[in-house]
Amino acid sequence: MQPTGPNAEQIEYWNVQASPTWIAQNARLDAMLAPLGLAAMDRARPGAGERVLDVGCGVGQSSLQLAGRVGPRGSVLGVDISAPMLARARERASAEKLANVVFENADAQTFAFTPNSVDLVFSRFGVMFFADPGAAFANLHRALKGGGRLVFVCWQALAQNPWMSEAIAAIAKHMQLPAPAAPDAPGPLSFADAARVRGILGRAGFRSVAHEPLVGELLLGQTIDEAVDFATEVGPASRALRDATEAQRAAAKASIRESLAARATTAGVRMGYGAWIVTAER
Ligand SMILES: C[S@@+](CC[C@H](N)C(=O)[O-])C[C@H]1O[C@@H](n2cnc3c(N)ncnc32)[C@H](O)[C@@H]1O
Repeated sequence: MQPTGPNAEQIEYWNVQASPTWIAQNARLDAMLAPLGLAAMDRARPGAGERVLDVGCGVGQSSLQLAGRVGPRGSVLGVDISAPMLARARERASAEKLANVVFENADAQTFAFTPNSVDLVFSRFGVMFFADPGAAFANLHRALKGGGRLVFVCWQALAQNPWMSEAIAAIAKHMQLPAPAAPDAPGPLSFADAARVRGILGRAGFRSVAHEPLVGELLLGQTIDEAVDFATEVGPASRALRDATEAQRAAAKASIRESLAARATTAGVRMGYGAWIVTAER
């Protein structure tokens, strides 16, 4: 996919900068995010024989789980702008011999989905990156059958996510961070404001929009080394470190290590998160 169109910047980011980490850290990210995705899936109740669209499916764990839930008479279409991440998702589907899931390398904001064709639009942290969320959700709304459901999980604000904010605070001790992005700029935190998301979904035609808080602790790694790598390679901290010098990166890692050391338990390094499960209907 060429980095063109309204989401060109995100296409570039998820194909070039982010995909190597998401593929290399596949097992750890899946272990960390699976409980949150499954909590959303339990709200979505994908039924046998249903057709599901998994938006921003990445390396595919949620698509494979959805495929298991809808069974052989149902089907899952995983859509993502990142070709390398989808290549990994396809490998996993074929390793699991799942014939009812296909992947499309496309922008969910603009892709011409078959209208009125899916029972459920689902996403695990894949809907916060649209340049024009209004257009994107209107597009997803058209893909849904009447009475179809939208269910996704997204992050709450930074203050509710110490696993992100503490790493950023540690980095800020060693380098000037770029001015924070506008709260509604595409990025992991852009759907933190429930009122904003309700407005976007309402204007796109969705009804019965509801937010359910999902809070708990994320397993950042079994060891402090793993957790430090994770904290610096994924999420907003990795974006903050993108332009760091080697010396700044080393100093930031040392500060992150110091703050994570306090969180180490015999069951790994865990930190608090806050997410929303958002549900709506066409
Ligand atoms: C935080 S990752 C989540 C990946 C996956 N859902 C998971 O939970 O492991 C966000 C994903 O959304 C994808 N994405 C971002 N903007 C997109 C768009 N406009 N259309 C489709 N996918 C998009 C990215 O390529 C990336 O794979």
